[in-house]
Amino acid sequence: MKKFPNNFLWGSATSAYQVEGGIEDNDWAEAARLEKLPEAGKASNHYNLYEKDFDIAKELNQNAHRFSIEWSRIEPEVGIFDQKEIEHYKSVLRALKERGIEPFVTIYHWPLPIWFGDRGGWLASDSDRIFARYVEKLANEFKGLVKYWITINEPLIYASAGFRKGTWPPFQKNFFTFVKVTNQLAVAHRLAYERIKEIDPQAQIGVAKNNIFFEANDNIFNKLAAKIASRFWNDRFLNSIAEHQDFIGLNYYFHKKFGDKKKYEKNDMGWDIYPKGIYKVLKHLNKYGKPIYITENGIPDANDKKRGRFIKDHLKWVHKAIEEGVDVEGYFYWSLIDNYEWDKGFGPRFGLVEVDYSNFKREIRPSAFEYAKMCKNNGME
Ligand code: BGC
Repeated sequence: MKKFPNNFLWGSATSAYQVEGGIEDNDWAEAARLEKLPEAGKASNHYNLYEKDFDIAKELNQNAHRFSIEWSRIEPEVGIFDQKEIEHYKSVLRALKERGIEPFVTIYHWPLPIWFGDRGGWLASDSDRIFARYVEKLANEFKGLVKYWITINEPLIYASAGFRKGTWPPFQKNFFTFVKVTNQLAVAHRLAYERIKEIDPQAQIGVAKNNIFFEANDNIFNKLAAKIASRFWNDRFLNSIAEHQDFIGLNYYFHKKFGDKKKYEKNDMGWDIYPKGIYKVLKHLNKYGKPIYITENGIPDANDKKRGRFIKDHLKWVHKAIEEGVDVEGYFYWSLIDNYEWDKGFGPRFGLVEVDYSNFKREIRPSAFEYAKMCKNNGME
């Protein structure tokens, strides 16, 4: 039996726009109305069914859950906060606590209130302060209910799709703007970190960072390319917030080998399945000397043929990293339930739990029970 450390957190993750449904006032909903993106509509109706979903998480032996708060619900107009929505998320947090599930709360998982975009989005010079005011509100309201905060989900993925590739709002294509936004997100994170700590010194704060395992064949130029890519993609943002994080959240999905033509097993979205990469990125993150939570790792796999093995294989490599001294303290599978996969819509199925979008019925997939066994045993055979 490969045992994980005592108090290891076993969970799964979601984000507001992807699962809640009924969100109208953010830039993604607006882009959907303009037919630039698929509609999220009622999504997985988690806004209404969260208790049921948390019952399932509990039944699956999970003791932690990561979810995000929808900014446009909390602050529908600039500087105006909606107490009813704040109460909603308090109920969500209580529902988790009642089930013995530790919440990890993401403050910003991509969609933005329309008013925020109208005043320049992340390119406005005061965007960090506008964000920090929202964060301050959350920290005051949820003090005592939340210990773990994730300020920003995957800053580089967001900035790259929104400002470099132009596939997500605000649909810009400029490398320098992408870098600028990335820098501004780091500024916003640092300010948010300070505000939360002033209100609740016990709070543990980090970001969820998508890191990629870059490697190369023997070619010296490929080796250099891998090094530069890793510095830029993996290290740059984390270095800039090194003094402002209590833990590192790692989202692991990708590897890239420069100069490699080998074919790898694929998931439903055509991404390579490469479990060893999670070990490599964990080892790389060890240099920060902070606890690490794997805040996302998952697979779109509609017929559930690969998910069980995917989770086990990744966790084997996580275990090896822990054995070698990396301080990994939790793992969140992405995702608890099927959801809206951004510009790809509802096609990809990441859930441990299948959602029938015609009636929002939930059905636990067989792989979820395999994961549940690991959660229960705090390890695996
Ligand atoms: C994101 C999730 C997304 C998942 C699968 C991560 O980049 O944080 O929102 O659904 O990957 O693409």
